[in-house]
Amino acid sequence: MASEMLGIDIGGSGIKGAPVDLSDGSFTRDRFRAATPHPSRPEAVARVVAEIVKHFGWEGPVGVTYPGVVIDGVALSAANVSKRWIGVDAAALIADAAGCPATVLNDADAAGIAEMRLGAGRGRGGTVAVLTLGTGIGSAVFTEGVLVPNTEFGHIQIDGRDAEHRASAKAREDEGLGWEKWAKRLSVYLSTLEALISPSLFILGGGVSRKAERFVPLIKGVRAEIVPARLVNNAGIVGAAMAAAAAHPAGRVSA
Ligand code: BGC
Repeated sequence: MASEMLGIDIGGSGIKGAPVDLSDGSFTRDRFRAATPHPSRPEAVARVVAEIVKHFGWEGPVGVTYPGVVIDGVALSAANVSKRWIGVDAAALIADAAGCPATVLNDADAAGIAEMRLGAGRGRGGTVAVLTLGTGIGSAVFTEGVLVPNTEFGHIQIDGRDAEHRASAKAREDEGLGWEKWAKRLSVYLSTLEALISPSLFILGGGVSRKAERFVPLIKGVRAEIVPARLVNNAGIVGAAMAAAAAHPAGRVSA
């Protein structure tokens, strides 16, 4: 099994990457961040991913997250990036631009994989839902440690609106909501989700989870345990690296 792998996380504002030590999720080199191009069209984003690969002089397979549904490397939705991604073979596009094999998966699924292996979900069985609260809401659902990919629970309807438009970290900022008000929305969101999948644990990720003590105690009416993510903003990079390592057990291809 590979011991080091490059992981790259495509987000709405930044594209970040680092080579990851797969044994503990640490970065073997400083993280590199570039701005997400606007508009975030596939070719422009792939060029930035290629720059990051080049920055690290990386020559093996690479794991890349995408903020939408991904099946067999093909992007099938695009809530917070250019709609031109829909139907694009993201894995082939990135592999072509970067000159190395690419494994592409949903960003929340990647974060979830990392949290389950090395973070707050370590050793947890039953149904676990990892939710990333950022520009949108991403979800990764595990049952007995096995991922059910592309669950897209950020888009369940609450009061006739997309949940992520009500309860994401961006919604809190855009609407200037205090912790109390936002926690109320999260309570509605989490209890609705709980009624659908009955998890035993919710892991809340995204940058805002660093301030978990401000809002987690205010969440009411949810039976499941609620804990903050441990890997926070690095989870996507680490999970992407893990997914690429699973797809390419031999690891780096020698030059
Ligand atoms: C997308 C998901 C993604 C989440 C977080 C949602 O709008 O539909 O695929 O995981 O945002 O980026």
